[in-house]
Amino acid sequence: MAHDDGELSALRREWNATAQYGRIRANWDPLDKRGLKNLFIEMLHREAIGAVARFDGNQAVLDLGCGTGVFEEYLGGKVRLAVGVDLSMAMLQQAVQARIPGVSFCLYDGTTLPFASQAFDIIIAKGLTYHLSDALLAALLRECQRALKPEGRLITIDNCSSNPRHQDGSIHKLLYRSSDALVKLFTANGLRVADRYPIRRGRSMLQYLIRYGFYGEKRIPELARRELETTKARGRFHSSYYVQCLHVCCPSGYVAGS
Ligand SMILES: C[S@@+](CC[C@H](N)C(=O)[O-])C[C@H]1O[C@@H](n2cnc3c(N)ncnc32)[C@H](O)[C@@H]1O
Repeated sequence: MAHDDGELSALRREWNATAQYGRIRANWDPLDKRGLKNLFIEMLHREAIGAVARFDGNQAVLDLGCGTGVFEEYLGGKVRLAVGVDLSMAMLQQAVQARIPGVSFCLYDGTTLPFASQAFDIIIAKGLTYHLSDALLAALLRECQRALKPEGRLITIDNCSSNPRHQDGSIHKLLYRSSDALVKLFTANGLRVADRYPIRRGRSMLQYLIRYGFYGEKRIPELARRELETTKARGRFHSSYYVQCLHVCCPSGYVAGS
């Protein structure tokens, strides 16, 4: 068996409960009462993914683990098909209630994507991998490989840590892997890593200042852009806590231009 159903039930319970924090806070940091830190993270993700995905109005895009659908507000209208899937009904309810034009949402079992093979140009999975055991993640990666077109791309945003103390679930029960460990998992499950780089420091004074309201909402997009640029330029995958990293994977076997 590829995964254990106890893990899926626990994930479903946990995220159904987390949904109570509301649309913005539930996805990332529930303690962020003003929602500005969550907005900062979301803006940074949009910038990072937009630069890689180069949405051109023609792509079919799946957001795996879409949560309350905040990213879909950005995605809707930029692509031919935008679908968000999640295993948590309560998270998805908030996504659906937001009535985002041009986007569909779909509840699924957490392991088998309810889509035809080679249906998508791009699959995005942000904030997902470190919630899943190796076995469940491996099963989902094989599903991504199946659902991607041969020249398609999986774009993930993962909290990565090379500190063994952070890899065993001791921080908020999260399974932070090193970027190298993720690359091994991607590779073992039919994906080739075409690019990867760090995009956000896990802990920084800036994020505390944002969370406690030292910056107004208007400054957030600019601060997010700057954080992305500096973290990417520093190129450090390691920190004493975690670094958020972007990985771009293609189904293995496909060579661009072939
Ligand atoms: C940290 S939130 C990120 C939400 C969203 N991607 C974002 O960036 O705002 C993680 C999401 O992954 C979902 N999730 C957990 N396990 C999953 C699985 N096996 N398949 C799909 N989604 C899952 C949770 O329900 C939750 O909505």
